[in-house]
Amino acid sequence: MKIKIAYHLNLDSRKIQGAKYAILPGDPGRVEYIGNLFDKKGKQIAKNREYCTYLGKIHDQNVLVTSTGIGGPSTSIAVDELGQLGIKTFIRVGTTGAIQDWIKLGDVIITTGSVRLDGASTHYAPIEYPAVSDFEIVQLLVKAADSLNIPRHVGITASSDTFYPGQERYDSSSKYVIKKLQGTMKEWQKLNVLNYEMESATLLTVANALGLKAACVAGVIVNRTKGEKIMDLKTGEENAVKVAIEAMKLLIRNQYVKL
Ligand code: URA
Repeated sequence: MKIKIAYHLNLDSRKIQGAKYAILPGDPGRVEYIGNLFDKKGKQIAKNREYCTYLGKIHDQNVLVTSTGIGGPSTSIAVDELGQLGIKTFIRVGTTGAIQDWIKLGDVIITTGSVRLDGASTHYAPIEYPAVSDFEIVQLLVKAADSLNIPRHVGITASSDTFYPGQERYDSSSKYVIKKLQGTMKEWQKLNVLNYEMESATLLTVANALGLKAACVAGVIVNRTKGEKIMDLKTGEENAVKVAIEAMKLLIRNQYVKL
């Protein structure tokens, strides 16, 4: 069979050994930590730029952990190239800023759909096309969070290309947000959006456009109704990773393990 090569990820179809599933953190520094939690610990199989990939096993199925880097453009490359290699199912695991006052640090947010405040997704589908999560994976993420006793919120995420102006942050270099974006946090709050992050709009749009399945779980590291500074990185990150891995176990169990 012809070997397929994914240039940016520095991967090819031989290296991934038939894997069909991938967990996608943004940060290459989190990949090893996630791979170590698999049933058979992951080993690094590729590294290039912001993309680091480990291959391990969950329930005897090969599963990748690949970092996407921050934001839409690098995420679109990761998802497209993993799709070219035969990955069918993606769970993004990340961190997030909550914008509703009842959401606590360390809670996780499971995205049902994303407001497309990115640019990359518009190169795959027009803006009217929804950035929605796969229904089955959302259910499994909820089940996973509940079984782990991790508080979770399920709903809409605003997914922005920028961390500062796009999320209406004034603690930036200029301390200024352009007029078009002033008041946008209030608007999303009124429209019952739960949180801000930076990759789900691209992931969900690209995955749906390519006929692939994807969902997103993110740990809360700041609540924007209280301030702009990141408060507690560790609890939110760890909780989101636990939920993502447990959901991947449930998914693979549903699809492969004969009971
Ligand atoms: N990631 C984001 O995109 N925004 C936040 O506020 C925190 C994490």
